[in-house]
Amino acid sequence: MFFHIENKGRYPMKRIIAVLMAVTICFITSSVHAQEKILMYSDDGHSITIAYNKVDEYKNAGWHTDKSEVTRVMYAADGSEITVYLAEVPDYIADGWFENKTDILKTLYTTDGQSITVFLSEVRNYLDNGWYDSIDYVTRTLYSPDGETVTLFLSQVPEYLDNGWHEDIGEVTTLMYAPDGSERYVFLADTKAYGIMGWSTDIRDVQREMFALDGRKITVFKADVEAYKNVGWYEVQTSEIDPSKPMLALTFDDGPSSVTTPVVLDTLEYYGARATFFVLGSMSKNNTSLLKRMSQLGCTIGNHTYGHPDLKKLSDKNIKSQFTRTDDIIKNAVGFEPTIIRPPYGSYNQRVMQAGEKPFILWSVDTLDWKYRDAEYVKNHVLNNARDGAIILMHDIHASTAEAVKSIVPELLARGYQLVTVDELAMHKGYTLESGKSYASFR
Ligand code: NI
Repeated sequence: MFFHIENKGRYPMKRIIAVLMAVTICFITSSVHAQEKILMYSDDGHSITIAYNKVDEYKNAGWHTDKSEVTRVMYAADGSEITVYLAEVPDYIADGWFENKTDILKTLYTTDGQSITVFLSEVRNYLDNGWYDSIDYVTRTLYSPDGETVTLFLSQVPEYLDNGWHEDIGEVTTLMYAPDGSERYVFLADTKAYGIMGWSTDIRDVQREMFALDGRKITVFKADVEAYKNVGWYEVQTSEIDPSKPMLALTFDDGPSSVTTPVVLDTLEYYGARATFFVLGSMSKNNTSLLKRMSQLGCTIGNHTYGHPDLKKLSDKNIKSQFTRTDDIIKNAVGFEPTIIRPPYGSYNQRVMQAGEKPFILWSVDTLDWKYRDAEYVKNHVLNNARDGAIILMHDIHASTAEAVKSIVPELLARGYQLVTVDELAMHKGYTLESGKSYASFR
């Protein structure tokens, strides 16, 4: 074959030899490569020399070709370093070495805002010399009344405290309640704005008591009042009187009675209603605690004489005595004299009014409760004759009346009447009560 080629003369021998050598080198090289050895390392520091074509097999068994893959640099608390095999790492950790350099560094702070990063081994010494290992220990958040907050280093705190900042957020905030019952801590500077929106620091200001005609009473948030009204609940009367809404005065004569008057007062208190009691001195002297309770409930106490005489038949001197003896008892009980009078039997004349020296209050609705002694009758009479500005006459010494009041009060409130005292009624209807005059209603 060689010769054949040579004969052709197209491939000189020199060139053939070069080609053959190249092929040979190539063959030798590949066979040498197959025979090449390589060093591999294990996690525990062993090494092994293997044939190149076994590398993958060893890698799968956990050996590494790069020595750095089986070692790790570890750090001591004093900053020293050591390179160990992976297999040794747990032992070193157990001896207090760390895998990450950041683990042996600690940033320390001073109260005036300096910071320094030191090795763990130095920390103790720094802590003993006024450094702190948490920025939380050297800073404090302060609050201003208008809601600003600032976080300062401790060295700056006194100056800020002197300038009206506070360390305790409780000192610059207050809990407020919304009409819908939600609550929130509000900065003092914001309480006025919240107040305009109907919020209050007193939860009672955003609540209303409501009652049902069957006697149930509940406390609801203002925002819910209308919804409750739509399902048959009524607002308990508040002390504020709305002059645009109807109002009338319930009046009770001849008491107080230790038996029946408390029942009337209980009802008034329950519904937040008020009334006027024209008391007798003879009945009051042993029931001063009832006078006190009337006064506490916002009721008015009027003078109905001491012994319930027909004043027209008395001398001026005796008329005055009937009133002054009663005034003294009332004043001793509640601290002030009555300012209004109701003459027994509605019997009076100019001379009696002059002796009384106070406005005389009569009535526009006479229930005749003393005569009928029937709760249902009294109730119907009051409800049928209730009018804006009316003064209704009853007697709190009768059990039937006390019983009637239990349903009269909620029914009148349900009908929209404000149950006020005689003097409140006069004032809101534009009357100025005068001595020597009598009044039967305020329309
Ligand atoms: Ni009377």
